[in-house]
Amino acid sequence: MEKLECLSCKKQFRLDVFTPFCPVCQEPLFYYYPDDSKKTIDLNKDHPLERYADFLPLKTFDPRLSLGEGNTPLVKLEGLARKFHLPATILAKNEMANPTFSFKDRGTAVAIQKAVSLGIRKIGTVSTGNMAASTAAYGARAGLETFVLLKEGTSPSSLLSAGIYQPRLIAVEGDYPQLYYQSFALGRKFGIYFMNSIDPFRVEGYKVTGYEIFRQLGLRTPRAIILPLSAGGHLLGIMGAFLDLLRAGTINEIPVIIGVQAEGCSPLARAFAAGAERYERISKARTIAHAISNPAPAAGNIVLRVIRENKGMIVAVSDEEILAAQKTLAEVEGIFCQPESAAALAALLKIRDALLFKEEDSVVLIITGSGLKNLGALDSLNMTVQNTNLVNLEGTLRSLS
Ligand SMILES: Cc1ncc(COP(=O)(O)O)c(C=O)c1O
Ligand SMILES: [Zn+2]
Repeated sequence: MEKLECLSCKKQFRLDVFTPFCPVCQEPLFYYYPDDSKKTIDLNKDHPLERYADFLPLKTFDPRLSLGEGNTPLVKLEGLARKFHLPATILAKNEMANPTFSFKDRGTAVAIQKAVSLGIRKIGTVSTGNMAASTAAYGARAGLETFVLLKEGTSPSSLLSAGIYQPRLIAVEGDYPQLYYQSFALGRKFGIYFMNSIDPFRVEGYKVTGYEIFRQLGLRTPRAIILPLSAGGHLLGIMGAFLDLLRAGTINEIPVIIGVQAEGCSPLARAFAAGAERYERISKARTIAHAISNPAPAAGNIVLRVIRENKGMIVAVSDEEILAAQKTLAEVEGIFCQPESAAALAALLKIRDALLFKEEDSVVLIITGSGLKNLGALDSLNMTVQNTNLVNLEGTLRSLS
Protein backbone atom coordinates (compact mmCIF):
# COMPACT_ATOMS: atom_id res chain seq x y z
CA MET A 1 0.00 0.00 0.00
CA GLU A 2 1.40 3.41 -0.97
CA LYS A 3 1.74 5.98 1.79
CA LEU A 4 2.35 9.65 2.39
CA GLU A 5 4.29 10.90 5.39
CA CYS A 6 4.24 14.06 7.49
CA LEU A 7 7.80 15.21 8.09
CA SER A 8 6.65 17.12 11.17
CA CYS A 9 4.90 14.46 13.26
CA LYS A 10 6.23 11.46 11.27
CA LYS A 11 2.70 10.01 10.96
CA GLN A 12 1.99 8.05 7.82
CA PHE A 13 -1.24 8.04 5.85
CA ARG A 14 -2.63 5.87 3.11
CA LEU A 15 -2.06 7.58 -0.27
CA ASP A 16 -4.88 9.96 -1.14
CA VAL A 17 -3.99 12.51 -3.82
CA PHE A 18 -6.94 14.65 -2.76
CA THR A 19 -5.52 15.16 0.74
CA PRO A 20 -1.89 16.31 0.58
CA PHE A 21 -1.79 17.86 4.10
CA CYS A 22 -1.37 16.26 7.52
CA PRO A 23 -4.70 16.45 9.35
CA VAL A 24 -2.80 16.81 12.64
CA CYS A 25 -0.18 19.50 11.87
CA GLN A 26 -1.56 20.96 8.61
CA GLU A 27 1.91 20.57 7.08
CA PRO A 28 2.34 19.09 3.58
CA LEU A 29 2.68 15.33 3.16
CA PHE A 30 5.47 13.70 1.18
CA TYR A 31 5.77 10.39 -0.62
CA TYR A 32 6.99 7.63 1.67
CA TYR A 33 9.47 5.06 0.30
CA PRO A 34 9.19 1.94 2.46
CA ASP A 35 12.16 -0.01 1.13
CA ASP A 36 15.77 1.01 1.45
CA SER A 37 16.95 -1.47 -1.16
CA LYS A 38 19.82 -0.51 -3.45
CA LYS A 39 18.84 2.18 -5.89
CA THR A 40 20.62 2.59 -9.19
CA ILE A 41 20.60 4.95 -12.14
CA ASP A 42 19.70 3.07 -15.35
CA LEU A 43 21.94 4.70 -17.92
CA ASN A 44 20.48 2.56 -20.70
CA LYS A 45 17.27 4.56 -20.46
CA ASP A 46 16.99 7.98 -22.04
CA HIS A 47 13.82 9.35 -20.47
CA PRO A 48 14.61 10.78 -17.01
CA LEU A 49 11.54 9.18 -15.44
CA GLU A 50 12.85 5.75 -16.51
CA ARG A 51 16.52 6.48 -15.95
CA TYR A 52 15.92 7.52 -12.32
CA ALA A 53 12.91 5.23 -11.80
CA ASP A 54 14.46 3.63 -8.67
CA PHE A 55 14.29 7.02 -6.94
CA LEU A 56 10.78 7.91 -8.10
CA PRO A 57 7.26 6.98 -6.94
CA LEU A 58 6.01 5.50 -10.23
CA LYS A 59 5.47 1.77 -10.68
CA THR A 60 4.82 2.19 -14.38
CA PHE A 61 5.75 4.79 -16.98
CA ASP A 62 3.48 5.59 -19.93
CA PRO A 63 5.55 7.45 -22.57
CA ARG A 64 2.37 8.70 -24.27
CA LEU A 65 1.78 11.08 -21.35
CA SER A 66 5.24 12.63 -21.62
CA LEU A 67 6.07 15.77 -23.59
CA GLY A 68 9.81 15.11 -23.47
CA GLU A 69 10.48 16.94 -20.21
CA GLY A 70 13.87 16.94 -18.50
CA ASN A 71 17.34 16.24 -19.87
CA THR A 72 17.84 20.01 -19.85
CA PRO A 73 21.22 21.58 -20.62
CA LEU A 74 23.75 22.50 -17.92
CA VAL A 75 25.76 25.30 -19.46
CA LYS A 76 28.89 27.06 -18.21
CA LEU A 77 28.59 30.80 -17.66
CA GLU A 78 32.19 31.77 -18.35
CA GLY A 79 31.47 35.32 -19.50
CA LEU A 80 29.56 35.97 -16.32
CA ALA A 81 32.30 34.53 -14.11
CA ARG A 82 34.80 36.75 -15.93
CA LYS A 83 32.66 39.87 -15.68
CA PHE A 84 32.18 39.54 -11.93
CA HIS A 85 35.60 38.00 -11.15
CA LEU A 86 34.02 34.90 -9.67
CA PRO A 87 36.68 32.28 -8.98
CA ALA A 88 34.38 29.22 -9.21
CA THR A 89 32.78 27.56 -12.25
CA ILE A 90 29.28 29.03 -12.61
CA LEU A 91 26.67 26.96 -14.46
CA ALA A 92 23.05 27.39 -15.47
CA LYS A 93 20.62 24.48 -15.40
CA ASN A 94 18.33 25.61 -18.17
CA GLU A 95 14.82 24.61 -17.15
CA MET A 96 13.40 26.90 -19.83
CA ALA A 97 14.14 23.99 -22.18
CA ASN A 98 11.15 22.06 -20.81
CA PRO A 99 8.01 21.60 -22.96
CA THR A 100 6.10 24.55 -21.47
CA PHE A 101 9.27 26.56 -20.80
CA SER A 102 9.57 26.08 -17.04
CA PHE A 103 10.70 23.54 -14.41
CA LYS A 104 7.05 22.90 -13.52
CA ASP A 105 6.85 20.27 -16.28
CA ARG A 106 9.08 17.91 -14.31
CA GLY A 107 6.57 17.82 -11.50
CA THR A 108 3.49 17.76 -13.70
CA ALA A 109 4.98 14.87 -15.70
CA VAL A 110 5.12 12.67 -12.58
CA ALA A 111 1.76 13.77 -11.18
CA ILE A 112 0.02 13.09 -14.50
CA GLN A 113 1.46 9.58 -14.64
CA LYS A 114 0.06 8.98 -11.17
CA ALA A 115 -3.32 10.53 -12.01
CA VAL A 116 -3.82 8.35 -15.08
CA SER A 117 -2.60 5.18 -13.31
CA LEU A 118 -5.18 5.83 -10.57
CA GLY A 119 -7.96 6.28 -13.15
CA ILE A 120 -8.46 9.96 -12.31
CA ARG A 121 -10.20 11.91 -15.10
CA LYS A 122 -10.10 15.46 -13.72
CA ILE A 123 -7.05 17.44 -12.68
CA GLY A 124 -6.51 21.01 -11.63
CA THR A 125 -4.14 23.60 -10.28
CA VAL A 126 -4.09 26.96 -8.51
CA SER A 127 -1.52 29.11 -10.22
CA THR A 128 -0.75 32.54 -11.56
CA GLY A 129 1.52 31.36 -14.35
CA ASN A 130 3.92 28.53 -15.06
CA MET A 131 2.08 25.79 -13.21
CA ALA A 132 -1.17 26.70 -14.96
CA ALA A 133 0.41 26.36 -18.41
CA SER A 134 2.20 23.15 -17.48
CA THR A 135 -0.83 21.44 -15.94
CA ALA A 136 -3.07 22.52 -18.82
CA ALA A 137 -0.60 21.20 -21.41
CA TYR A 138 -0.17 17.77 -19.78
CA GLY A 139 -3.89 17.58 -19.10
CA ALA A 140 -4.57 18.22 -22.79
CA ARG A 141 -2.10 15.54 -23.86
CA ALA A 142 -3.56 12.98 -21.46
CA GLY A 143 -7.12 13.87 -22.54
CA LEU A 144 -8.12 14.85 -19.00
CA GLU A 145 -10.52 17.56 -17.97
CA THR A 146 -8.31 20.31 -16.52
CA PHE A 147 -9.35 23.10 -14.16
CA VAL A 148 -7.10 26.12 -13.73
CA LEU A 149 -7.94 28.48 -10.88
CA LEU A 150 -6.28 31.83 -11.41
CA LYS A 151 -6.04 34.86 -9.23
CA GLU A 152 -8.24 37.63 -10.59
CA GLY A 153 -6.05 40.18 -12.36
CA THR A 154 -3.54 37.63 -13.68
CA SER A 155 -1.62 39.14 -16.63
CA PRO A 156 -2.97 38.46 -20.15
CA SER A 157 0.25 36.67 -21.16
CA SER A 158 -0.05 34.24 -18.22
CA LEU A 159 -3.69 33.69 -19.06
CA LEU A 160 -2.89 32.98 -22.71
CA SER A 161 -0.01 30.62 -22.00
CA ALA A 162 -2.45 28.36 -20.13
CA GLY A 163 -5.57 29.24 -22.15
CA ILE A 164 -4.18 27.98 -25.45
CA TYR A 165 -4.58 24.39 -24.14
CA GLN A 166 -8.28 25.08 -23.53
CA PRO A 167 -8.58 24.09 -19.87
CA ARG A 168 -11.51 25.30 -17.80
CA LEU A 169 -10.16 28.68 -16.68
CA ILE A 170 -11.64 30.20 -13.55
CA ALA A 171 -10.47 33.63 -12.33
CA VAL A 172 -11.17 33.82 -8.61
CA GLU A 173 -11.45 37.00 -6.62
CA GLY A 174 -10.24 36.75 -3.02
CA ASP A 175 -7.32 35.76 -0.85
CA TYR A 176 -4.81 33.63 -2.82
CA PRO A 177 -3.53 31.42 0.04
CA GLN A 178 -7.14 30.74 1.00
CA LEU A 179 -7.96 29.77 -2.58
CA TYR A 180 -4.99 27.40 -2.53
CA TYR A 181 -6.22 25.52 0.56
CA GLN A 182 -9.86 25.62 -0.49
CA SER A 183 -8.99 23.98 -3.81
CA PHE A 184 -8.19 20.70 -2.02
CA ALA A 185 -11.54 20.56 -0.25
CA LEU A 186 -13.37 21.29 -3.49
CA GLY A 187 -11.15 18.86 -5.38
CA ARG A 188 -12.16 16.06 -3.02
CA LYS A 189 -15.80 16.96 -3.51
CA PHE A 190 -15.69 17.08 -7.31
CA GLY A 191 -13.04 14.41 -7.94
CA ILE A 192 -10.50 16.96 -9.24
CA TYR A 193 -6.90 16.11 -8.39
CA PHE A 194 -5.34 19.52 -7.66
CA MET A 195 -1.65 19.00 -8.36
CA ASN A 196 -0.57 22.27 -6.73
CA SER A 197 2.88 23.54 -5.89
CA ILE A 198 3.74 21.09 -3.11
CA ASP A 199 1.82 18.08 -4.40
CA PRO A 200 3.82 15.02 -3.24
CA PHE A 201 4.24 13.67 -6.78
CA ARG A 202 5.16 17.07 -8.19
CA VAL A 203 7.89 17.40 -5.56
CA GLU A 204 9.23 13.92 -6.42
CA GLY A 205 9.45 15.00 -10.07
CA TYR A 206 11.67 17.95 -9.12
CA LYS A 207 14.22 15.51 -7.67
CA VAL A 208 15.20 14.54 -11.21
CA THR A 209 16.81 17.96 -11.71
CA GLY A 210 19.18 17.14 -8.85
CA TYR A 211 20.12 13.73 -10.30
CA GLU A 212 20.69 15.27 -13.72
CA ILE A 213 23.03 17.93 -12.29
CA PHE A 214 24.98 15.22 -10.46
CA ARG A 215 25.35 13.24 -13.68
CA GLN A 216 26.12 16.22 -15.89
CA LEU A 217 28.93 17.21 -13.53
CA GLY A 218 30.52 13.78 -14.01
CA LEU A 219 28.99 12.19 -10.89
CA ARG A 220 30.09 15.07 -8.66
CA THR A 221 28.09 17.38 -6.43
CA PRO A 222 28.29 21.11 -7.02
CA ARG A 223 29.43 23.25 -4.10
CA ALA A 224 26.15 25.20 -4.21
CA ILE A 225 22.79 25.28 -5.99
CA ILE A 226 20.89 28.58 -6.06
CA LEU A 227 17.20 28.75 -6.99
CA PRO A 228 14.19 31.04 -6.59
CA LEU A 229 11.92 30.02 -3.73
CA SER A 230 8.16 30.42 -3.38
CA ALA A 231 5.97 27.58 -2.04
CA GLY A 232 9.09 25.45 -1.52
CA GLY A 233 8.28 22.37 -3.61
CA HIS A 234 11.13 22.87 -6.06
CA LEU A 235 13.73 23.40 -3.35
CA LEU A 236 12.54 20.39 -1.36
CA GLY A 237 12.68 18.20 -4.47
CA ILE A 238 16.22 19.20 -5.39
CA MET A 239 17.42 18.94 -1.79
CA GLY A 240 15.67 15.54 -1.62
CA ALA A 241 17.64 14.27 -4.62
CA PHE A 242 20.96 14.93 -2.92
CA LEU A 243 19.73 13.53 0.41
CA ASP A 244 18.75 10.35 -1.50
CA LEU A 245 22.26 10.11 -2.98
CA LEU A 246 23.74 10.68 0.47
CA ARG A 247 21.58 7.92 1.98
CA ALA A 248 22.50 5.58 -0.88
CA GLY A 249 26.18 6.17 -0.05
CA THR A 250 26.80 7.64 -3.53
CA ILE A 251 27.97 11.02 -2.18
CA ASN A 252 29.50 12.18 1.13
CA GLU A 253 28.19 15.71 1.24
CA ILE A 254 25.25 17.56 -0.25
CA PRO A 255 25.56 20.97 -1.93
CA VAL A 256 24.74 24.19 -0.10
CA ILE A 257 21.19 24.80 -1.28
CA ILE A 258 20.29 28.49 -1.42
CA GLY A 259 16.66 29.58 -1.80
CA VAL A 260 16.04 33.13 -3.05
CA GLN A 261 13.04 35.32 -2.35
CA ALA A 262 12.13 38.84 -3.44
CA GLU A 263 12.56 41.41 -0.66
CA GLY A 264 8.99 42.63 -1.18
CA CYS A 265 7.64 39.18 -0.24
CA SER A 266 10.19 37.21 1.74
CA PRO A 267 8.56 35.42 4.67
CA LEU A 268 11.10 32.59 4.60
CA ALA A 269 14.20 34.76 4.19
CA ARG A 270 13.02 36.83 7.15
CA ALA A 271 12.42 33.79 9.33
CA PHE A 272 15.78 32.32 8.31
CA ALA A 273 17.61 35.55 9.18
CA ALA A 274 15.84 35.64 12.54
CA GLY A 275 16.64 31.98 13.25
CA ALA A 276 12.91 31.29 13.63
CA GLU A 277 11.45 27.81 13.27
CA ARG A 278 8.22 29.03 11.72
CA TYR A 279 7.58 31.87 9.31
CA GLU A 280 5.11 34.69 9.68
CA ARG A 281 2.65 35.37 6.90
CA ILE A 282 3.31 38.55 4.91
CA SER A 283 0.36 40.92 4.87
CA LYS A 284 1.30 43.01 1.82
CA ALA A 285 3.45 41.59 -0.95
CA ARG A 286 5.17 44.15 -3.17
CA THR A 287 7.50 42.86 -5.88
CA ILE A 288 7.71 42.52 -9.66
CA ALA A 289 8.65 38.85 -9.13
CA HIS A 290 5.04 37.63 -9.10
CA ALA A 291 5.80 33.93 -9.59
CA ILE A 292 7.71 33.82 -6.31
CA SER A 293 5.52 36.27 -4.43
CA ASN A 294 3.86 33.99 -1.93
CA PRO A 295 2.82 35.48 1.44
CA ALA A 296 2.13 32.05 2.99
CA PRO A 297 4.34 29.35 1.39
CA ALA A 298 2.69 25.97 1.84
CA ALA A 299 5.91 24.11 2.63
CA GLY A 300 7.56 27.12 4.30
CA ASN A 301 8.12 25.62 7.75
CA ILE A 302 9.50 22.38 6.31
CA VAL A 303 11.82 24.38 4.04
CA LEU A 304 13.10 26.32 7.07
CA ARG A 305 13.81 23.06 8.84
CA VAL A 306 15.61 21.24 6.02
CA ILE A 307 17.62 24.35 5.17
CA ARG A 308 18.71 24.65 8.80
CA GLU A 309 19.47 20.93 9.15
CA ASN A 310 21.48 20.78 5.93
CA LYS A 311 23.42 24.05 6.17
CA GLY A 312 21.51 25.76 3.37
CA MET A 313 20.57 29.41 3.17
CA ILE A 314 17.60 31.60 2.29
CA VAL A 315 18.31 35.10 1.04
CA ALA A 316 16.26 38.01 -0.26
CA VAL A 317 17.11 40.29 -3.19
CA SER A 318 15.53 43.54 -4.33
CA ASP A 319 13.52 44.07 -7.50
CA GLU A 320 16.34 46.26 -8.84
CA GLU A 321 18.87 43.48 -8.27
CA ILE A 322 16.53 40.97 -9.93
CA LEU A 323 15.98 43.11 -13.04
CA ALA A 324 19.68 43.90 -13.34
CA ALA A 325 20.48 40.17 -13.12
CA GLN A 326 17.85 39.35 -15.76
CA LYS A 327 19.48 41.86 -18.10
CA THR A 328 22.99 40.59 -17.37
CA LEU A 329 22.07 36.97 -18.08
CA ALA A 330 20.66 37.98 -21.46
CA GLU A 331 23.46 40.41 -22.43
CA VAL A 332 26.41 38.37 -21.25
CA GLU A 333 25.23 34.79 -21.69
CA GLY A 334 22.30 34.90 -24.13
CA ILE A 335 19.89 33.54 -21.52
CA PHE A 336 16.52 35.28 -21.46
CA CYS A 337 14.78 34.08 -18.34
CA GLN A 338 11.91 35.50 -16.34
CA PRO A 339 12.85 37.93 -13.55
CA GLU A 340 12.00 35.35 -10.88
CA SER A 341 14.64 33.01 -12.29
CA ALA A 342 17.25 35.76 -12.48
CA ALA A 343 16.86 36.16 -8.71
CA ALA A 344 19.31 33.23 -8.46
CA LEU A 345 22.07 35.28 -10.10
CA ALA A 346 21.14 38.35 -8.06
CA ALA A 347 21.62 36.25 -4.91
CA LEU A 348 24.94 34.83 -6.07
CA LEU A 349 26.27 38.34 -6.62
CA LYS A 350 24.93 39.50 -3.29
CA ILE A 351 26.39 36.74 -1.12
CA ARG A 352 29.48 35.76 -3.10
CA ASP A 353 31.87 36.92 -0.38
CA ALA A 354 30.09 34.94 2.34
CA LEU A 355 30.35 31.76 0.27
CA LEU A 356 34.16 31.83 0.00
CA PHE A 357 34.23 30.00 -3.32
CA LYS A 358 37.38 28.25 -4.43
CA GLU A 359 38.53 27.70 -7.99
CA GLU A 360 37.58 24.02 -8.00
CA ASP A 361 34.02 24.74 -6.85
CA SER A 362 31.04 24.71 -9.17
CA VAL A 363 27.89 26.70 -8.51
CA VAL A 364 24.62 25.94 -10.31
CA LEU A 365 21.93 28.56 -10.89
CA ILE A 366 18.57 26.99 -11.71
CA ILE A 367 16.98 29.00 -14.50
CA THR A 368 13.38 28.13 -13.71
CA GLY A 369 11.37 29.78 -16.48
CA SER A 370 11.44 31.67 -19.77
CA GLY A 371 11.48 35.45 -20.12
CA LEU A 372 8.94 35.18 -22.92
CA LYS A 373 6.32 34.35 -20.29
CA ASN A 374 6.26 37.94 -19.10
CA LEU A 375 7.31 40.48 -21.67
CA GLY A 376 5.51 43.13 -19.64
CA ALA A 377 8.36 43.06 -17.13
CA LEU A 378 10.59 44.55 -19.83
CA ASP A 379 8.61 47.75 -20.33
CA SER A 380 11.50 49.79 -19.00
CA LEU A 381 14.18 48.10 -21.13
CA ASN A 382 16.51 50.59 -22.81
CA MET A 383 16.94 49.55 -26.43
CA THR A 384 18.45 51.64 -29.15
CA VAL A 385 16.82 51.06 -32.52
CA GLN A 386 18.44 52.74 -35.55
CA ASN A 387 15.90 53.77 -38.13
CA THR A 388 17.04 53.81 -41.74
CA ASN A 389 15.82 52.88 -45.22
CA LEU A 390 17.14 50.67 -47.99
CA VAL A 391 19.09 53.51 -49.60
CA ASN A 392 20.86 54.50 -46.39
CA LEU A 393 21.26 51.04 -44.87
CA GLU A 394 24.88 50.68 -46.03
CA GLY A 395 25.80 54.00 -44.42
CA THR A 396 24.07 53.07 -41.18
CA LEU A 397 25.93 49.78 -40.98
CA ARG A 398 29.22 51.58 -41.68
CA SER A 399 28.58 54.04 -38.89
CA LEU A 400 27.91 51.22 -36.47
CA SER A 401 30.74 48.88 -37.35
C1 LIG B 1 9.68 30.79 -12.57
C2 LIG B 1 9.50 30.25 -11.19
N1 LIG B 1 10.58 30.11 -10.41
C3 LIG B 1 10.47 29.62 -9.15
C4 LIG B 1 9.25 29.26 -8.60
C5 LIG B 1 9.20 28.76 -7.17
O1 LIG B 1 8.92 27.39 -7.05
P1 LIG B 1 8.27 26.81 -5.72
O2 LIG B 1 6.89 27.41 -5.60
O3 LIG B 1 8.25 25.33 -5.92
O4 LIG B 1 9.14 27.22 -4.58
C6 LIG B 1 8.10 29.39 -9.38
C7 LIG B 1 6.79 29.02 -8.82
O5 LIG B 1 5.78 29.19 -9.38
C8 LIG B 1 8.22 29.91 -10.70
O6 LIG B 1 7.15 30.05 -11.50
ZN1 LIG C 1 1.82 15.83 10.96
